[in-house]
Amino acid sequence: MPGTGIDQRTDELRKIRDEVVALSISPLYAYRIENKYFPVIGEGDHEARIMFVGEAPGENEAKTARPFCGAAGRILDELLASIGLDRKTVYVTNLIKDRPPGNRDPEQAEIDLYGPFLERQIAAMRPRVIATLGRHSMKYIFEKYDLSSVLQTISKIHGKVFKGTAPYGEVTVVALYHPAVALYNNSMKGAMLEDFKIIKKYANDVGPGTTL
Ligand code: URA
Repeated sequence: MPGTGIDQRTDELRKIRDEVVALSISPLYAYRIENKYFPVIGEGDHEARIMFVGEAPGENEAKTARPFCGAAGRILDELLASIGLDRKTVYVTNLIKDRPPGNRDPEQAEIDLYGPFLERQIAAMRPRVIATLGRHSMKYIFEKYDLSSVLQTISKIHGKVFKGTAPYGEVTVVALYHPAVALYNNSMKGAMLEDFKIIKKYANDVGPGTTL
């Protein structure tokens, strides 16, 4: 496949990885090095039509360089399994690529620094659907892809489908609760399972993102 084929995608994703690895200007870089952590770039099918965007790596992720590999990841796998999706068939990444100390919320300077790497991942992979996990990635994606006018709190817009404008054309955006929400409040699980059903419809659509 010329132009946007798997090799070009993988090359760009490797470039992004190398740049993030070398990102010594990051306010999170010293913390990474002191703790022998790794940045977490993303994982999954480079031709996936669905991309999940979480917030930032936690400790397990920073130790292994793999997104959502701790307790929140087990919830994510459960939510994916509920709609018959295997994690290998989607792509999972985060807005922030390094672990913030103590899992605090990302600061604006961190969002400004790491956000463009996420945008490059999206531009390289051209997902048809971007599913945000949590309010920070929701805000970032809605503001970048022309959805500021419909941005509300996550409790108001979770599970709804919006059509955003990505550099490569229309992209479907769905705001989902962060999987960790179910760890603190199990009564949210029902709503989260319900929201995931909307993703199933796109998982079964024909054709990878590149064909659009
Ligand atoms: N929470 C996130 O937002 N991302 C991860 O990778 C893990 C936990």
